[in-house]
Amino acid sequence: MLESIEKIRKEAEEFLASAGGTAEQFRLTYLSKKGILNGLFEDFKKVDPAQKRAVGQQLNVLKNALEEIHASLQKETSSDTGKLPSEDLTLPVVPDSQGSLHPLSIVRRRIVEIFSRMGFNAEDGPEIEYDWYNFSALNFAENHPAREMQDTFFVEKADATRDDLLLRTHTSNVQIRLMDRKKPPVRSIMAGRVYRNEAISARAHCQFHQVEGLYVDKNVSFRDLKDTLLHFSKEMFGKDTQIRLRPSYFPFTEPSAEIDVTCFICGGSGCNICKHSGWVEIAGSGMVDPNVLANCGIDPEEYTGFAFGMGIERITMLKYGINDLRLFFENDQRFLKQFVGI
Ligand code: DAH
Repeated sequence: MLESIEKIRKEAEEFLASAGGTAEQFRLTYLSKKGILNGLFEDFKKVDPAQKRAVGQQLNVLKNALEEIHASLQKETSSDTGKLPSEDLTLPVVPDSQGSLHPLSIVRRRIVEIFSRMGFNAEDGPEIEYDWYNFSALNFAENHPAREMQDTFFVEKADATRDDLLLRTHTSNVQIRLMDRKKPPVRSIMAGRVYRNEAISARAHCQFHQVEGLYVDKNVSFRDLKDTLLHFSKEMFGKDTQIRLRPSYFPFTEPSAEIDVTCFICGGSGCNICKHSGWVEIAGSGMVDPNVLANCGIDPEEYTGFAFGMGIERITMLKYGINDLRLFFENDQRFLKQFVGI
């Protein structure tokens, strides 16, 4: 009898290890009324009285072991109930919905790529900036209105050791950082986020993105500026695109010009997007002011340069007919999904 008790205990342990059976199967086999354990207790009645004590002890040990195995089988099945009932790991993978680049990234990459092919290398600069790089070195007069609180987010006021710290209001700060570091020839394209203290609406936001371009070398002329931006416009908006330069003012360029392109929606015949003028504005530009070059230790007698800056949101809105700036920052899937595969 002792031998069969031992054999049953082993079998029961194998049942647990094989993980093939359920707690209920185990109960029916070993612990139910007609199960193996009860059968043993029946046999126990016929055991020789001299052996009863030893066999009885082993029988109890077996009973406890079987109950423990049953409990652990039950636990296993109950923790399984959270899982899918039948996971077939051989099924082919269902493709997850395809992500896409943000429309601003699509346009930024395209702009940078076009200028890279013209020999401009991509550069980067800080979004938290000193007044000097964002304003003073760019020839903003001390009392220029753009420095006032309504336009600029200040981070920390100046103290005896340093300048005002602020969130850059344009990417032009990278021009200065670049020319401080590198002497001409400099030909770079700089994309990034900028901040202005504006009320958020369909047409304005407190954060947006710009791309800045800078080319400084000997004999860089206004004609180079025009040709570069014409080539860019044809690449970006189509080969029939024309550009128009309107006189403008920026503290850091002289002369300065606003760049318009022929409306790529109506081809110049007039529509809602171009407000029936046939032209849309895409950038500010100009010849780098000699004061700016001098502020960076570059001799304006020896070198000249041109610069331009454009808003990525604006170009994206024009290109895709988007009418509300806020859409770019809301991450609404219904908006973003339209750019899959572009
Ligand atoms: N920084 C100007 C702005 O935020 C844009 C700009 C205009 C950049 C002319 C330039 C430039 O480099 O030459 O409105």
